[in-house]
Amino acid sequence: MDSDTKERKILVTQALPYANSSLHLGHILEAVQTDIWVRFNNLNGNECLFFCADDTHGTPVMLKAKELGIEPEVLIKDVHKDHMDTYKLYNINFTNYHTTHSEENKKYAEMIYNKAKVNNLITKKTIKQLFDNKESMFLSDRFVKGTCPKCKEEEQYGDGCSKCGATYDVNEIINPVSSLSGTIPVLKDSEHIFFNLPKQIDVLKEFLKKSDLQKPIVNKLSEWVNDDLQQWDISRDAPYFGFKIPDEKDKYFYVWLDAPIGYLASINNWATSNNKKMDELWSKDSNYEIYHFIGKDIAYFHGLFWPALLDSADLKLPDGIYVHGFLTINGEKMSKSKGIGIWAREFAELSNPELLRYYFAAKLNDKVEDIDLNLEDYVTRINSDLVGKYCNIASRSSSFIKKNNNELSQNIDHELVDKITSIKDLVISHYNSRNYSKAVRAVMDAADEVNKYINDKTPWKKDLVESVEIASTALFAFKVLSIYLSPIIPNITKDAFEFLNTDKNSLKDLNTPLEKTINNYTPLLNRLEPIELKKDKPMNEDNNIDIKHFAEVDLRVARIIEASNVEGADKLLKLNLDVGDLGKRQVFAGIKKAYSPEDLKDKLVILVSNLEPRQMKFGISEGMVLASSDDEGIYLISPDSGAKPGLRVK
Ligand code: MSP
Ligand code: ZN
Repeated sequence: MDSDTKERKILVTQALPYANSSLHLGHILEAVQTDIWVRFNNLNGNECLFFCADDTHGTPVMLKAKELGIEPEVLIKDVHKDHMDTYKLYNINFTNYHTTHSEENKKYAEMIYNKAKVNNLITKKTIKQLFDNKESMFLSDRFVKGTCPKCKEEEQYGDGCSKCGATYDVNEIINPVSSLSGTIPVLKDSEHIFFNLPKQIDVLKEFLKKSDLQKPIVNKLSEWVNDDLQQWDISRDAPYFGFKIPDEKDKYFYVWLDAPIGYLASINNWATSNNKKMDELWSKDSNYEIYHFIGKDIAYFHGLFWPALLDSADLKLPDGIYVHGFLTINGEKMSKSKGIGIWAREFAELSNPELLRYYFAAKLNDKVEDIDLNLEDYVTRINSDLVGKYCNIASRSSSFIKKNNNELSQNIDHELVDKITSIKDLVISHYNSRNYSKAVRAVMDAADEVNKYINDKTPWKKDLVESVEIASTALFAFKVLSIYLSPIIPNITKDAFEFLNTDKNSLKDLNTPLEKTINNYTPLLNRLEPIELKKDKPMNEDNNIDIKHFAEVDLRVARIIEASNVEGADKLLKLNLDVGDLGKRQVFAGIKKAYSPEDLKDKLVILVSNLEPRQMKFGISEGMVLASSDDEGIYLISPDSGAKPGLRVK
């Protein structure tokens, strides 16, 4: 083994995708960047393990579940499967894919919090926060909309203005409105728990000096460290989907506290079922290096909060954080609200996902630059590189070998093969420094050499022996190229190795000769046709539920026995309902504006009968009657007359 390929032991993570939505191609860019690095390291004789998990906690997951009428636990289970299936399509080879809603994560979150407490890094402070009275919850910044205090643009989010770019405190926003209920939020006191980040300033300065970080990231993080380190608010009030904070009432860990801890949890989960000790994997004494791959938007969390927390818990800090830019589509920023972007599953139906891995690799480098997926360029690139250069070598050479009963010649032209193996160190160093675009360039230049060799030697003009020698030489070179490309296109190269009848496919096998015979050639790849995105199906939030979820909603015909006004409530009527077999129910309905109680007697309505009963100010509401509404009115949904109370609606 070469001196530059010493055995290393490495733990790698990619950022944990949120469990409130499917994966888009931006997630895949990150996964591909990380997966290539992991595969390369293993190919190069290192032990490299790859961990990830779903990031399941926080307000967006809670609200998404509410919107779908399911429990958050159900949502995150469905999404977990969806995410794992999607990553599989793109051949992302995780050592373990876990969830932050796990026993391991709870254990580590509590342990790390308690260590911070012991180290006097935890403080409490009462803050004023906007509160939605209707939804009975505190609002995080992104759920408040209003007018920008600087430029007066309307409809801006609570944390910043999309027009003038100003960032401000949510309390400064003019005419705030809760985007959950549309009501005006009020300021309310709440005691929050803080992690004393400023106290960790020396740890952070040391971390910035020592660890492997890109220059612009060091600059940005140093700016934050030197100018405005703030106490970090790590608690959220109920209702919240997450872990309760030990020894506190109705307080939960903020999702960003337990999210990176999810890295440890995923590793712990794997260690347990693989007979490994955590101390040997992630601890100050372990031999493993730790690297995080993340996008540029979350550098703050990984470069400041995370090392500060790890240090306080006496755990090893990461050896490096590798930050990538964002994926744009045909030059435009992805945006769910504007419908720009592509779901990962959808793309996998349009094109072989392996080819996107190649395209991303051909563009990725070690910079924090954005990367564009241009669909025309994608097709051109695949056809010219993979079809026209790489696969072409195999297809044109195989025809000569076939004439020789698939037997190769042992008389190889080593001048060509040496040329192709001589770029090994260059390719290794490009992979290692995440300059995959340069690795791809070097390999494609080498493929050009091989094609030129075939052209110059004109095997079609030669006798069988000589043509088989030329083709055997080209296929030896093709094997070397396949090894180089295997971290990027593992499936295609797997087929290539099968065709070549070889299982010596590691970087140390570059010079190992092929077996005596090869297998019949079937095309490794066909030319790509132009790709068109379905114009009528832009990337908006997919709100489909499956039939199972729909069937969980128990809809029943109900007869209004009596409707009455509710004292102190100007929108509500109290309905007493006859629901046949299910007995009688009391429901509060916000329909007072449109109906007077006496008109409702004996009216048939549709009741959601298995809704969790809700304690309201005026009493318990045991279900919900269906109505539609707009600015002009409210319209109860009624079955035709004759429908019997208690009848199921299907
Ligand atoms: N859950 C957090 C990360 C917690 S890590 C302890 C999160 N999730 S995310 O789903 O929003 O993003 C996951 C990763 O995908 C992040 O690294 C993010 O930068 C990356 N990307 C999200 N959109 C992206 C693009 N358009 N392009 C490239 N990467 C993108 O943040
Ligand atoms: Zn503004």
